[in-house]
Amino acid sequence: MPELDSPQRQTPDSLMLPGFWYRALPADCVVRNQLHPATLLEIPLVVGRDRRGRPFALRDACPHRGMPLHDGHFDGTNVECPYHGWTFDAHTGQCQLIPSLTADQNLKVDRIYAGSYPCEEQDGFVWVYIPEPGPQGAGFIKSTGAPQPAPQVEKFSPHYKRAYLTADMPVSVDHGIIGLMDPAHGPFVHQAWWWRSRHSIHEKQKNFEPIPNGFRMSAHTPSSNSAPYKLLRLYAAADSITTTIDFVLPNLRSETIRAGKFWFSSLTTVTPITRNHCRIDVVAAWNIFRWVPFGPELLKFVFAKFVEQDRRTMEMQAEGLKHNPHLMLIDDADRPAKWYFQLKAAHLEAKRTGEEMKHPMSGPVTLKWRS
Ligand code: FES
Ligand SMILES: [Fe+2]
Repeated sequence: MPELDSPQRQTPDSLMLPGFWYRALPADCVVRNQLHPATLLEIPLVVGRDRRGRPFALRDACPHRGMPLHDGHFDGTNVECPYHGWTFDAHTGQCQLIPSLTADQNLKVDRIYAGSYPCEEQDGFVWVYIPEPGPQGAGFIKSTGAPQPAPQVEKFSPHYKRAYLTADMPVSVDHGIIGLMDPAHGPFVHQAWWWRSRHSIHEKQKNFEPIPNGFRMSAHTPSSNSAPYKLLRLYAAADSITTTIDFVLPNLRSETIRAGKFWFSSLTTVTPITRNHCRIDVVAAWNIFRWVPFGPELLKFVFAKFVEQDRRTMEMQAEGLKHNPHLMLIDDADRPAKWYFQLKAAHLEAKRTGEEMKHPMSGPVTLKWRS
């Protein structure tokens, strides 16, 4: 009999995980020589692009008296606080100047730092690495680099198209993530006359396997009502199409669909902004439709519709969650959500003990559900 887990053990705790890269802003919003506020994991950031085009991220609070630096002046190299004009190197956060100092005052300006964060541009987004514990706002701490580069969308040929979609969700990162991996909402949320109705619901069976820090829906022929599949079927024999979907901590869902030389690949992230607010960013790359008029527009239209349906659903869910209801996760449809919480708990436990993370899955698992 499927077990019904107690809500206490399995429901969202809204805990946000430092020690990972997060998407901060779409790269085309980060203009050269300008400052942009952004929030990640409740940390206020000022994100910008220097005069050579390289992005940077500083804590958006002056180490002097906490003024938001994004209201200050940026000359393409240094950020100047609008309150007393202290200036900081945009990349290192090192203080360059304190205008109020007289010639005989020998305060060591270069020992003061505005907190700075590793920052990279990848697949059209500015990514920021949030270390643990976060650098202090006021202080003398020089930031260190990230242990690995920011995640990328997997690509399988040198020429491809790329697009992104982004949507704010008024729920915690946990609800955003389990909503993303939830197979059972499709027939109810993602209805459209050109797509499917709730009557198209049918039994499905999928194999899952553990991968480092996550799990994989093993390569299979995609479900006949998945979006890119319907489009790819115009190009390749149905049985030559395979798809793989991975989830990896803290918030990465990657999907690749391949049909001979044609491919479609996406990397979706659910970014914790605050405890009760997250953002979904989907970046997709593909080499189909490159020569078909309206191809990319069609794909973007389909995805925009899906993301909007999910956003609207989470907006409604947020209303219900205000009252702290008891929640439950069932087998098998909510099993990926259970793995997510177990992975998160295992990650935190490994950090606490300093031992290697114990993966919650001991081997491959087959799940069944109707959707
Ligand atoms: S608060 Fe920034 S210079 Fe004083
Ligand atoms: Fe959805």
